[in-house]
Amino acid sequence: MKDQAEKLREMMREKNAREHPVRQRDGNRTRIITVTSGKGGVGKTNISVNMAIAYARAGKKVVVMDADLGLANVNVMLNMIPKFNLYHVIRKQKTMQEIMVETEYGISIVAGASGFSKIANLTEEERQNFINELETLSNADIIIIDTSAGVSSNVMDFIAAADDAVIVTTPEPTAITDAYGIIKIIATEIDNLNMGLKLVVNRVKTVAEAKKVADRMTSIAGQFLNLKVEYLGFIYDDYVVSQAVLKQKPFMVIDPKCKASLCVQHIVGRMEKSEVRETSGGFGKMLKRIFGRING
Ligand SMILES: Nc1ncnc2c1ncn2[C@@H]1O[C@H](COP(=O)(O)OP(=O)(O)OP(=O)(O)O)[C@@H](O)[C@H]1O
Ligand SMILES: [Mg+2]
Repeated sequence: MKDQAEKLREMMREKNAREHPVRQRDGNRTRIITVTSGKGGVGKTNISVNMAIAYARAGKKVVVMDADLGLANVNVMLNMIPKFNLYHVIRKQKTMQEIMVETEYGISIVAGASGFSKIANLTEEERQNFINELETLSNADIIIIDTSAGVSSNVMDFIAAADDAVIVTTPEPTAITDAYGIIKIIATEIDNLNMGLKLVVNRVKTVAEAKKVADRMTSIAGQFLNLKVEYLGFIYDDYVVSQAVLKQKPFMVIDPKCKASLCVQHIVGRMEKSEVRETSGGFGKMLKRIFGRING
């Protein structure tokens, strides 16, 4: 099975080299960013969607993948109802390009299928087809995966596949404790932790409040887990965000100059400055994780 996964990675590298000769020369490849949190409702979906829009405005081709079908977060936030999701791709009823929905905001969305482990039940042909379909996403510059809160094995797979895990917390003590909890689980569950762990503090009243939370989180992670967590930035608690949610439009669209929008732009700017580690996740790892699950 390992040989087969390696063969697929090889295939993908060749395909990429064929289709994106320039990008290959530059060493650029699809960056996979997983947005996660310990506690629910801290702003993951808002951050995923609005970061995607900020990237798109910077000229990037962005796909937002909803890793949680059950809650259909991304769709609701954009007032869209995709008819099909990854499940249909797995079942060979649709292609990736067919289920991917372009939005009016310059980003595309893919609705997830709950239970990636279902892949274990696929026939060899279906599996091969699914991998091929997944590869077609490698045309994107950025894939942002919005996860559900907490740690299902599903979420862990997405985190493991990512180049960057953006952990979202608010200044609430419960959210901070849970954010620390998820960092700890990431550290223990994922072997060869190579991705960049990034922290975003959402819904803050002041810069100082954000800094206090970030300092605490980064120092505890360093001290007790020996992990480097990079403080990516904060987002102000902003009335425009809740208004945007009610209107089912991204706040970056409702008001690109509102406090929350400016913060998101700043975060994406920081993200762009932080290099993707050569050894981190990416598609190869995503495939490997999926194959790993099949074996396990
Ligand atoms: N910066 C902010 N300012 C004001 N309100 C915010 C902000 N961020 C999030 N909210 C509020 O929090 C709510 C939850 O946000 P969101 O749905 O993005 O969280 P989530 O982490 O994706 O939740 P879930 O865990 O349920 O998926 C939003 O509906 C919005 O009202
Ligand atoms: Mg959400």
